[in-house]
Amino acid sequence: MRRRCGRWGALALVLAARSCTFSASGPRRRVVQGLVQAGLARAAPAWAEARTSEERSAAQVFRDATPGVVSVSRSLRPGERRRPAEDGLPPSLGSGFVWDESHVVTNYHVVRDIGPQDIQIVFLDTSVKDDMPTREVLKGELVGTDPFTDTAVVKVYPPVGKRLVPMRPLPLGKSSSLEVGQSVFAIGNPFGLDHSMSKGIISGKSRTLDIGERPIQGCIQTDASINPGNSGGPLLDATGRVIGVNTAILTASGTSAGVGLAIPVDTVKKNVDLILKQGFVARGFLGITFAPDAISDALQIPGVVVFSVVPNSPAERAGVRPMLNGTIGDAITALDSTPIKSGTDIFRLLDKHVPGDVVSLGLRRARREESGDTTVEQVFLNITLSSTPRRK
Ligand SMILES: *[C@@H]1O[C@H](CO)[C@@H](O)[C@H](O)[C@H]1NC(C)=O
Ligand SMILES: *[C@@H]1O[C@H](CO)[C@@H](O)[C@H](O)[C@H]1NC(C)=O
Repeated sequence: MRRRCGRWGALALVLAARSCTFSASGPRRRVVQGLVQAGLARAAPAWAEARTSEERSAAQVFRDATPGVVSVSRSLRPGERRRPAEDGLPPSLGSGFVWDESHVVTNYHVVRDIGPQDIQIVFLDTSVKDDMPTREVLKGELVGTDPFTDTAVVKVYPPVGKRLVPMRPLPLGKSSSLEVGQSVFAIGNPFGLDHSMSKGIISGKSRTLDIGERPIQGCIQTDASINPGNSGGPLLDATGRVIGVNTAILTASGTSAGVGLAIPVDTVKKNVDLILKQGFVARGFLGITFAPDAISDALQIPGVVVFSVVPNSPAERAGVRPMLNGTIGDAITALDSTPIKSGTDIFRLLDKHVPGDVVSLGLRRARREESGDTTVEQVFLNITLSSTPRRK
């Protein structure tokens, strides 16, 4: 019997030395087993030498992350048929990624219109099967959401009578230490296509994403293209760690316009931990809506003009005065003795509080006198925050 490892080369020869006394029947198999045992089966193949080192590391990030990136869709209703063009797969609504052994994180807006029991999670089982990964379609159930930061957590269940394939949680990075200019990768299922990756850089930090009554602070702006199917998928740094959750709800056209935004992972982590614990994220609630900053700028009023006050909210009970018939009442000039210049300042300070906390509000109160003159006084109120109203 001759020791021949043929075109598998020197590396394989060394690694598989003991299996190189091949039987004529299966030399390749032995060498592959040797590689698998040495933990190198997933390493870049020889032809990858033709790549630049940068390309090789990008390819490595993609290979490592793919098993942890999922497609999120709706399961079929009884009697409903899949359209043939869809390859037997559920139409993808967005992406998500593996958080821990049994949970997936995605965007709230991806699962908003699906029944909490009707979620399907599709991911690739890459537990090496002849190099041909298979798709696993699993049942998902909503654990909880945080609409304010567009975050949702889904628990994944194995098919009846089967075990859950091992989930591969993606490693988390830190969004607090990011730099403009560093490379990032977005992975997801844009337009329902299987796992695609796009590359870019961090184009900006601390962007504010205004999607509801409460803007999301500290968002990461990137030129990596983020399309609707990418929503909920991870934004990764060059070492493959999650630094943000992509969200593609900005553009009117629905397609990427070169400005992708991701919710910073520090924010996501804080909220996912709360959702896993109690099913929702409770925030301190004042019950005030603000007029756009442009109004106080135009009228040269310091602070932020109170537009309306939510009935039965802490602000209403404390006597905060909204605009009435176009006449300005209160404007918030300080919160916790910090001067307020914009609505963003208020949200940033409120984010540090939890329900039950007392905040001190400094108000500039305009009062129309019977004579027609307006007098202005400074008012201070201590207000106990309640909890944000729960939404489904
Ligand atoms: C506001 O306007 C309405 C009608 O437009 C009037 O009935 C009401 O008295 C006004 N309120 C105040 C406080 O001026
Ligand atoms: C608000 O609370 C602080 C601290 O307890 C207190 O010193 C202050 O007098 C209170 N202000 C009002 C207007 O109640």
